[in-house]
Amino acid sequence: MRNITLIKGDGIGPEITESVVKIIEASGVDINWDIQTAGADVIEKEGVPLPQRVIDSVKANKVALKSPVTTPIGKGFRSVNVQLRKELDLYANLRPCYNLPNVKTRYDNVDIVVVRENTEDLYAGIERQVDENTAESIKRITRNASERIAKFAFDYAVNNNRKEVCVVTKANICKLSDGLFLECARDIAKNYPQIRFREILVDNCCMQLVQNPNQFDVLLLPNLYGDIVSDLCAGLVGGLGIAQGANIGKDYAVFEPVHGSAPDIAGQDKANPTAMLMSAIEMLKYIGEFDAANRIKIALFETLNSDIKTSDLGGTAKCTEFTDAIISRLKILAVK
Ligand code: NAI
Repeated sequence: MRNITLIKGDGIGPEITESVVKIIEASGVDINWDIQTAGADVIEKEGVPLPQRVIDSVKANKVALKSPVTTPIGKGFRSVNVQLRKELDLYANLRPCYNLPNVKTRYDNVDIVVVRENTEDLYAGIERQVDENTAESIKRITRNASERIAKFAFDYAVNNNRKEVCVVTKANICKLSDGLFLECARDIAKNYPQIRFREILVDNCCMQLVQNPNQFDVLLLPNLYGDIVSDLCAGLVGGLGIAQGANIGKDYAVFEPVHGSAPDIAGQDKANPTAMLMSAIEMLKYIGEFDAANRIKIALFETLNSDIKTSDLGGTAKCTEFTDAIISRLKILAVK
């Protein structure tokens, strides 16, 4: 039996976590979930939103499945998600983005992988209040972090039969910080002559993505642009309800959907568990459970094809109904 840390999150987190745990159980994979809590509720009891026990649990188990945790806007505690990525040095945020069966979108054949640097940039939260009317944020970019994320993107391209890596910056304006990120990508690209290398400015990239997304393959971005552009890419293929993600480091990996805790639909059995499930499928592959990962993906795709969909995809199924439909198909696949 494999030990895996499970962070249930808040908002829709517990609903989509329950769904995915049930589906994995039905697939026959034996996992001992090490359940950990984090976020606003934990502060009251333990004084901090991300207690050391959560980090220790991921360090011991090496792998975690995580659902979203709310971060207060404009004030309050620092993001649990950002802290966790930093504490575990999960330097690569990998967000594959492609069309799913029977999910209507403006474009077919979108197949983009967003590789986002996950430890620095404006996301590091280095801010100061200069005076009552002025605030500053530091955009910190280092050669070490930029080179290793560029290497990750190119290695991913080689290992996954991709043709191109496109680095996305605003190096015409942020000449030093984005300029360094771009310079590192150019240097690393020289070691991968088999992969086409392309450069684009982030504003143009956004325009091109909404007009002609099929031109893109692997996108390589600093942290903040990566955050924004990956939501844009999620929108191209059906929205946040289906957008999977993974945070990968040298020693640990935390799989989590791109979306947040969706407080607007929390507790209503309306959430789409697909993004969390697709993240969990990648987690199963990461731990070597290829057969179960494949069966779950087939069951998910068959369910979507039979027009059982949650409301974000234009369907009427509740989260629990969608989950049960996937489990029914998994059982049929097991008998075949
Ligand atoms: P959000 O991603 O939670 O929601 C944006 C929109 O997408 C909402 O209309 C929501 O209903 C919809 N949506 C998201 N996931 C869905 C799903 N699985 N099924 C159906 N609809 C879904 O973004 P928002 O509202 O900006 O953030 C809410 C909170 O989540 C914030 O506190 C934010 O900091 C946090 N957050 C946490 C993340 C994490 O834990 N990794 C990532 C992003 C945001």
